[in-house]
Amino acid sequence: MYENIIHKHKPAPDNLIYILHDIQDCHPQHYITETAATEVAHYLNVPVSHVYGVITFYTMFSTKPRGKNIIRLCESPPCHLKGSDNILRKLKELLKIKKTGETSADGLFTLETCACLGVCGNAPVIMVNETVYGDLTEDKVEVIIEKVRGGKS
Ligand code: FES
Repeated sequence: MYENIIHKHKPAPDNLIYILHDIQDCHPQHYITETAATEVAHYLNVPVSHVYGVITFYTMFSTKPRGKNIIRLCESPPCHLKGSDNILRKLKELLKIKKTGETSADGLFTLETCACLGVCGNAPVIMVNETVYGDLTEDKVEVIIEKVRGGKS
């Protein structure tokens, strides 16, 4: 089922992370299924437990279905000091979700937290899919969410 994606890479254990990224990116719900993890393990000739060890170690991987768009809010100290809590509160309000890790009822957004995104000078920061947004205010977050909802991101 995932053969086409997996076989784009050489069967070397060092390619595990790249393969997992590709699998997750290709899934409409941005996660790695049990079938995919098993197929990767067989292809690389490593135990399935090793594949799961990697999946669960890195927060960017998920074993649960997620929304069409993934929002990652940086919660490292510089962003925290610049008000990431307010941004988090606003995001929850806009997406009508109670806690991080949840997906909005329309299936459009999953809200997650993460460590430093490497642009601390622009704190507070979020990343929506592959795009980083900095110097955030609650108003700016509202505009970003509307833009993504309208398919303009
Ligand atoms: S602390 Fe948030 S981007 Fe570095």
